[in-house]
Amino acid sequence: MTNETFTIAIDGPAAAGKGTLSRRIADQYGFHHLDTGLTYRATAKALLDAGLPLDDEAVAEKIAREVELAGLDRDILSKHEIGEAASRIAVMPAVRRALVEAQRRFSTKAPGTVLDGRDIGTVVCPNAAVKFYVTASPEVRARRRYDEILGKGLTADFDAIFEDVKRRDERDMGRADSPLKPADDAHLLDTSEMSIEAAFQAAQSIIDAVLSRNA
Ligand code: DC
Repeated sequence: MTNETFTIAIDGPAAAGKGTLSRRIADQYGFHHLDTGLTYRATAKALLDAGLPLDDEAVAEKIAREVELAGLDRDILSKHEIGEAASRIAVMPAVRRALVEAQRRFSTKAPGTVLDGRDIGTVVCPNAAVKFYVTASPEVRARRRYDEILGKGLTADFDAIFEDVKRRDERDMGRADSPLKPADDAHLLDTSEMSIEAAFQAAQSIIDAVLSRNA
């Protein structure tokens, strides 16, 4: 955090609602928003598109350094295969270093930024003004993802999605470099039995309190 910038860090597992929450917070305060998962996904997509291997750290790092934060397209990058490939390259320290550098540069934009991901409060922005850890039970997260797919008029297999959510959690929480975990000073928002709207209200009162303390 610089004197002019107010950074909000939002971490949590896949499908906990942190993306929706982050966008609402960024809109509310007029802050820049970065979904850092998209940076891992863009790197993975560039490797896949170029027919490059997903297990060569030096190649993946080179591609990671070429990712343009301004051009990240959620619709294109949200594909399941890209998410799978992203979680494989996200275990590579050199890839993480390259993407974390770009994310940190983004985090200093005035008047403020909201970054969401897995390691924002712990690694990318340890000095963020406010940190949230957004979570929900694996069942609830799988159900949300399932409903979202059905809502688009597509078909889905709940059990497969549930297994996928659990596998992603294991990979995100179990990796050696920057595993997913709440920062010591993060506010916990469990959305298992709380709507995203209620989580937003709770987050807003915490942010407002910090903003008025800093004013
Ligand atoms: O949130 P997502 O599904 O778009 O993330 C894609 C992958 O990138 C996922 O396996 C977790 C990883 N990721 C990460 O390791 N660190 C971040 N800050 C954001 C995402």
